Amino acid sequence: MALTTMRSTTTITSKRIYDARSSKYNESWHPEHAANYIRWAQPDAGQHVLDLACGTGLVSIAAKHAVGPTGTVTAVDVSTGMMAIGKQSAQTGGLDIQWLEWDVTNLLSAKAQGKIRDDYDWITCATALVLLEDPLSTIKQWKELLKSGGRIITDVPTEKTMPQGMIFEQIGKEMGIEQPSRRLWVKNEKSLEQLFFDAGFEIENSWKAPGYLPRKDHRVDEAGELFDRWTGTDFCRVFGEENVREKARTMFLKRFDEMKGEGGMVNEEDAFYLVIGRNV
Ligand SMILES: C[S@@+](CC[C@H](N)C(=O)[O-])C[C@H]1O[C@@H](n2cnc3c(N)ncnc32)[C@H](O)[C@@H]1O
Repeated sequence: MALTTMRSTTTITSKRIYDARSSKYNESWHPEHAANYIRWAQPDAGQHVLDLACGTGLVSIAAKHAVGPTGTVTAVDVSTGMMAIGKQSAQTGGLDIQWLEWDVTNLLSAKAQGKIRDDYDWITCATALVLLEDPLSTIKQWKELLKSGGRIITDVPTEKTMPQGMIFEQIGKEMGIEQPSRRLWVKNEKSLEQLFFDAGFEIENSWKAPGYLPRKDHRVDEAGELFDRWTGTDFCRVFGEENVREKARTMFLKRFDEMKGEGGMVNEEDAFYLVIGRNV
């Protein structure tokens, strides 16, 4: 089997979900987040940017505006549907971006085949790190695509953001149900920084930024309603299937109850941890 086709089930599930979501994806907070990414990274004119898990190209397009005609942007994703939207937007804007349908956990094969550079100034990976099966080994690969002194910017939701998602991930593990989220390693504000340190990056900046949705606190007796709402979404639909629903719901209610803090409420924030790592 060709290396490019050996995808993990996490990647296959992501591809299916994002292909289905592609036409509505830009009607969300993601465009604002992408604009912030380029404000935080500030790639210079003439630089080379590799935008990983580029989706509909929101960051790729903003990056291309920043690096201008003398710079390059390579945009990589597994979702044909997401990239089709990005290609259309770039074409409309007259922007020359290299689009590559590839698994970002297997980029050294793309490098070996001469499909991407190995001297990028910037790697961007917005709101996708928590979809990867093994972020540490993947980031180590990405390091080999940066020039010396090149930088990477990425983010993860904080452990208190969408706590329901964490519960579903845990239940998925326990019940052997495949779902694409891989957030359980995010324990606190040091987790992302530590990952980059372990991968051999120098930490240039590490911070917490607010998200784009109103913050919610939940009463424990709302858990059933939350379970029903979440199992209506692509990410968690599998937990609502007839053969697993009852067991998954019972587990969800129990774990939600265990999460409650003062006043019997489960607190939810909407925020990201971000890091800029430097290849030394
Ligand atoms: C939440 S979207 C983020 C898109 C874009 N970075 C943005 O900020 O709008 C997550 C993207 O990750 C992609 N993705 C997930 N796993 C991937 C993998 N292993 N290789 C390539 N793309 C992947 C999905 O197809 C999806 O387009």
